[in-house]
Amino acid sequence: MIGSVRFQSKLPDVGTTVFTVMSRRAQEEGALNIGQGFPDYPIDPRLGQSLIETIAEGRNQYAPMEGVIELREQIARKIHASYAIQVDPRAEITVTCGGTEALYDSIQAVIGRGDEAIIFDPAYDAYEPAVRLAGGRCIRIPMAPPEFRYDWERVRRHLTERTRLIIVNSPQNPSCTVAERADLETLAALARDRPISILADEVYENVLFDGRSHASVLSHAELRERSFAVFSFGKTLHATGWRVGYCVAPPKLTAELRKVHQFNTFSIAAPLQYAIARYLEQFPDAWTGLSAFFEAKRDLLAGLLRGSGFEPLRAAGTYFLLVDYGALSRANDLEFADRLMREAKIATIPLSPFYAAAPTMTLLRLCIAKRDETLKAAAEHLCTFAAGHPQP
Ligand SMILES: Cc1ncc(COP(=O)(O)O)c(C=O)c1O
Repeated sequence: MIGSVRFQSKLPDVGTTVFTVMSRRAQEEGALNIGQGFPDYPIDPRLGQSLIETIAEGRNQYAPMEGVIELREQIARKIHASYAIQVDPRAEITVTCGGTEALYDSIQAVIGRGDEAIIFDPAYDAYEPAVRLAGGRCIRIPMAPPEFRYDWERVRRHLTERTRLIIVNSPQNPSCTVAERADLETLAALARDRPISILADEVYENVLFDGRSHASVLSHAELRERSFAVFSFGKTLHATGWRVGYCVAPPKLTAELRKVHQFNTFSIAAPLQYAIARYLEQFPDAWTGLSAFFEAKRDLLAGLLRGSGFEPLRAAGTYFLLVDYGALSRANDLEFADRLMREAKIATIPLSPFYAAAPTMTLLRLCIAKRDETLKAAAEHLCTFAAGHPQP
């Protein structure tokens, strides 16, 4: 019951996400927000210009449900440049409202009442509510810090005749680890001969460090046959507020995904799609420098924090960095993040909300998609706090 109206919440235990809570508190406290994952620097002005032009040209009415073909062709070109494979822009690519909608649509397309989806903790928070809204349940397999490796044997033990989906995220938010080719091989072997689809959240596909390359399900012929691969121009073009993402899947899976998409958002803002298409046509390499760009930011922040008491873990990808405050406090991460907010005036993201049953750990997630000045200021806040709080 809510008030006097008979109403049963479908997600009674779901509150506001940790990202929104921390960002809201950061505003209230006047704290520096190094928690939530969004850039604080401008987009490429040429991308902005492209949007102004498309609006002026009058491309302001409904886009086709599956996305404007000009953009889907650019996406196919990008995929070919990245993974040396051909995808059919007409039958295999759907433009969505950010990666988030692609995740949601894929889950609704596959999961029915009583079905199971396997996800890995620490898990991005959009997966479980979508599975539950579809009537399914998540089997959560923990990854142990600080390595955060896949426990494939545990996955095998949890496969049942109700397993319909395995959700993998690489590069992984929030652990900043990446899947190896061997992980894909094991995943393919586990799914083989079973009615299991793969949902591959690859929104950080272009942000891998130290010379690593991304092991996409699209580059694995067997996995590709049963996978929804999810991407985001929010990440790739530093434009999280544009909310443009896409899903790549074989024609049969794409057809099912589109049945959900057309009654969910129907289609994505037309001028934004044309603007991105035009921009990628003019600057097809716009995304190729992302790893180097973020690696420099990782190294800057990690270098400033090393030895301070906030010990950086070595991030393999994503635009985050984990720091271990264990040398300063044994408090749990929620309490410690709250204390940093109040005393150091800095917002960070604790890791335990990403787990169903969090292990004992003293890790916080920082976002490196910030101007160098912001990263330096964040390091200063943290180092000043650490200096005033010698080891327990
Ligand atoms: C792992 C992961 N998946 C999906 C998303 C959602 O992407 P989008 O902002 O394009 O909806 C995010 C955003 O932070 C993310 O970190």
